[in-house]
Amino acid sequence: MNVKKLVRKGVKKAECIKWGETKKDWLVLKWGENFYPPCETVVRAITKTAKESNLYPDPLKSELVGALSKYARVPSKNILVTNGLDKAFRLIAETFIEKGDNAITCAPSYPVFDSAVEIFGGIVKYANLSSQYLADIEKIIGLMDKRTKLIYLCNPNNPTSNIIVTKKGIVRLLKTGAIVILDEAYYEFSKITYSNLLKRYENLLVLRSFSKGIGLAGLRVGYVLASEIVIKEMKKIEDTIEVFNVPATSLAGAVAALKNKQYFLGNLAKMEQTKSVFCEGLKKINLPCVESKTSFVLFSLEKVGLSGKEFVKRMSRKRILLKDCSIYKNMGKCMVYAAIPPAKKVKFVLKSIEGALA
Ligand SMILES: Cc1ncc(COP(=O)(O)O)c(C=O)c1O
Repeated sequence: MNVKKLVRKGVKKAECIKWGETKKDWLVLKWGENFYPPCETVVRAITKTAKESNLYPDPLKSELVGALSKYARVPSKNILVTNGLDKAFRLIAETFIEKGDNAITCAPSYPVFDSAVEIFGGIVKYANLSSQYLADIEKIIGLMDKRTKLIYLCNPNNPTSNIIVTKKGIVRLLKTGAIVILDEAYYEFSKITYSNLLKRYENLLVLRSFSKGIGLAGLRVGYVLASEIVIKEMKKIEDTIEVFNVPATSLAGAVAALKNKQYFLGNLAKMEQTKSVFCEGLKKINLPCVESKTSFVLFSLEKVGLSGKEFVKRMSRKRILLKDCSIYKNMGKCMVYAAIPPAKKVKFVLKSIEGALA
């Protein structure tokens, strides 16, 4: 019996993204996590709901959708809550991609979008970012053909950490009629959003996450802002085969977090300060980083003649885990991604980096 023969081609061909491991009791700086723990009210809401784990979560996620409507200033009918933002990529591909359709993304950029498209039988085309890490709108348009369904822009971009596209650029792409997916997972850091274009363009999808600025990565909550028609079609999939997809504890924690915005906004301000100290320190050791609008920074080892792989290996001797960016397309072998460390660990991280260069 050959069961592999029965597996869909898209799955069989899928190449797993080489995210690598995480480590308990190490300083893990490879996921861009927020090191401030959730506030007391979030913990209480989760604990209270955990005691009701015999019950299913709210299939409509009404309380969270209502809270998000106020937070994102978008009507409830334009919001879809997902089980982490990564889940949104899959839902988007399931909704729009038929075998042979194509999607365009930038390189380097967040690769989960590409994987989702390919798994559902689509083809991914890449428009390289400029040397300044900016999206080339004309290049993207040049790649389009009649089977182009989706265009993905991550703004600020993972892994480059900067703003890669202007509102004007997004409007130009929206005018092509393709579905434009604008990933604003780091919105709380960048404070830049083009979500007001949702009123005019029903082909725009804005993606957000609770994992970064709001600091609840472990709860796995994300959301999509889009036109009513798009939300309705995507929701069909959730409502039919995955109606209880977001755990009740996650819904409760996310609602509580939005009720105490001051807490995560305060942490964000502290993280920005830490990021400045970290970047200054990196600059002093000849590793200037890209101006970051995210929870992580990107720096090059080219001048010091080291590969990302070797550097990450050397840092692991100090039990610090960084990300070698060679897993991203068009990123070369010398780029390293590091989350903003906890304030108390910045000196230690900088010292360890200096040691790893020696
Ligand atoms: C740009 C971008 N989009 C989406 C995600 C996934 O977010 P979530 O944790 O909500 O699945 C990440 C996570 O790092 C990201 O960097």
